[in-house]
Amino acid sequence: MRKRLVVANWKMNGSIEANAQLIRGLIDKSSKIERVVCPPSVYLSQVAELVNGSNIGLGAQNVDWRESGAYTGEVSAVMVAELGARYIIVGHSERRAMFGEDVETCLKKTQAVLGANVTPIFCVGESKQQRDEGKTEQTIEAQLADVIRDVPLDKIVLAYEPVWAIGTGDVATPEQAASVHQFIRELVAKRSPGAAKTVRILYGGSVNGGNARGLFEKDDIDGALVGGASLKVEDFSAICNAV
Ligand code: PGA
Repeated sequence: MRKRLVVANWKMNGSIEANAQLIRGLIDKSSKIERVVCPPSVYLSQVAELVNGSNIGLGAQNVDWRESGAYTGEVSAVMVAELGARYIIVGHSERRAMFGEDVETCLKKTQAVLGANVTPIFCVGESKQQRDEGKTEQTIEAQLADVIRDVPLDKIVLAYEPVWAIGTGDVATPEQAASVHQFIRELVAKRSPGAAKTVRILYGGSVNGGNARGLFEKDDIDGALVGGASLKVEDFSAICNAV
């Protein structure tokens, strides 16, 4: 049985005051599933203290693939690990599209995260155009190929996030999501049948309290990566309860 996981991707949102309120609110709500919050990296220390001793885990949204050195403005996986991050998101479509991260960078980051003993949450997803052209599976396979070949698949979490669903309110139907999740699990199975049974595949893209249950009813959907709805206690908790 794969343990359900819901990850809050705060993106570039938050403040010292808002973070404290949000975390206190989440701690007050009991949860049977694994919950992880990924604040902007400047707030990792603050949030690490806030979640200390609770059942909420800490994650980071992004790191550089190098460990240290003259890379102005960057932070490394070992640094965020030192602050207590147990997960790091890699290959989010916003990073791929807006910060020029290609498959090679995403692989290096995944390896750096594993090297810091942290679990990568590796994101893949097709654009609207790719879906319309019938290239969804081809796109996902290309994004995943290096990771499937080079990375220990029992040590990572995967996330399917269709680009057209992120921040748009246009959530994938449970059937659309389940079909891609199944496809991803089959790709993993080709390399490692054992890992295919245990690897957790999250769905992300406009998940909210209303649509979460339908998604989580599908066998291959093991949790969610949540953006907008992770910024409010009630919304995030509704998703966690649906899981
Ligand atoms: P969204 O973002 O929930 O706001 O659509 C999801 C994500 O980008 O991880």
